[in-house]
Amino acid sequence: MTNRIVVLKGDYIGPEIMAAGLKVLRAAAEHFDFDYDLIEEPFGGEAIDKVGEPLPQTTVEAAKNADAVLLSAIGGPKWDNAPKRPEAGLLSIRKQMGLYANIRPTRVTKQLKQYSPIENEIVSGTDFVIVRELTSGIYFGEPRWQKADSAIDTTVYRRNEVQRIARTAFDMAMKRRKHVTVVDKANVLATSKFWRQIVGEIQPEYPDVTVDYMYVDATAMNIVSHPKHFDVILTDNMFGDILSDQAAAITGSLGMIPSMSVGQSGPNLYEPIHGSAPDIAGKHIANPISMINSISMMLRYTFDQFKMADVIDRAVSQTIEDHFITRDLGGDETTEATTKHIIKSINRQEAPRYVKDN
Ligand code: NAD
Ligand code: IPM
Ligand code: MN
Repeated sequence: MTNRIVVLKGDYIGPEIMAAGLKVLRAAAEHFDFDYDLIEEPFGGEAIDKVGEPLPQTTVEAAKNADAVLLSAIGGPKWDNAPKRPEAGLLSIRKQMGLYANIRPTRVTKQLKQYSPIENEIVSGTDFVIVRELTSGIYFGEPRWQKADSAIDTTVYRRNEVQRIARTAFDMAMKRRKHVTVVDKANVLATSKFWRQIVGEIQPEYPDVTVDYMYVDATAMNIVSHPKHFDVILTDNMFGDILSDQAAAITGSLGMIPSMSVGQSGPNLYEPIHGSAPDIAGKHIANPISMINSISMMLRYTFDQFKMADVIDRAVSQTIEDHFITRDLGGDETTEATTKHIIKSINRQEAPRYVKDN
């Protein structure tokens, strides 16, 4: 059966990087006979403009029935005062699809290290993932209100919510360097102390995994000063949001980093970690690599297309090595030129196969 990919093309730079990503997908798919249907659905600001609501029910249904969902980024000043903002739609689709685990990798490869703002010796070889809880915590807790003289948000974590995200992190660590760092504020917060208790209960199931605990403030420092300490960072919704932008910055640009959101069952959602970058929209300077890397993750983790993902990853590395990069990384190529170069590199890698086949 043809693979069904729901496409949520997003706002501001969203459509620009989605177009780039889909061109790369099409180029790679031709070499690997990968069949797919793209099902475009309205979402975010675009959907507010079309139907007055950031997450139409039809979009939720299409997403749930897909094999994978691709999202670029939503939101922006145009809708900041909307009764229901695009961001509310994003939280709602994550919740309705049950996507409780958000995986955000940070890797400083040999091609990238020269673009990092951090000294080479400190940053080179950095390779960790942030496992961010995505459907609970302060983003969703009740009560939550704003009045004239006060406002309240609530952090709630239930046992099963912490158990399942902890298992995601431990499972991931087993496939990596077997080291989990739990990041929290257990010197102050009850929810953090609770996380430590639950993680302590799960840990015996994974005797090969080393666990350490680090306060979030110290983690912010260590991501910059000792990034190689980390293998798997396990943390809550809000800390994971903040630390993942910081972690992205040490790779050279936020515009590089993909993510994968996973639930108990059903399709995964793949999206860059950054936002819709209204400050650079329409200028043809958005870095498409975060989106292309998200597509590579989708091919690997939803469709088991490991070779195809490898070819795309190598093309991205080659393009960075060739300095065919956008302004955020210090280059002066456009989104389109960078994308073309990546596609050329894909075609070059796969050309011998074609010659042989013919
Ligand atoms: P942002 O991530 O959009 O941008 C932060 C900075 O990084 C900007 O200077 C931007 O130009 C730059 N940047 C981001 N992606 C880039 C790329 N691919 N190439 C080059 N530069 C890039 O964060 P923001 O400005 O705080 O938020 C803008 C809007 O996006 C807000 O409405 C916010 O709520 C929304 N947002 C959406 C998502 C999402 O859809 N998942 C994530 C974060 C923020
Ligand atoms: C992200 C974004 C979202 C989040 C916003 C837009 C709701 O910052 O995906 O990192 O906080 O989860
Ligand atoms: Mn964020």
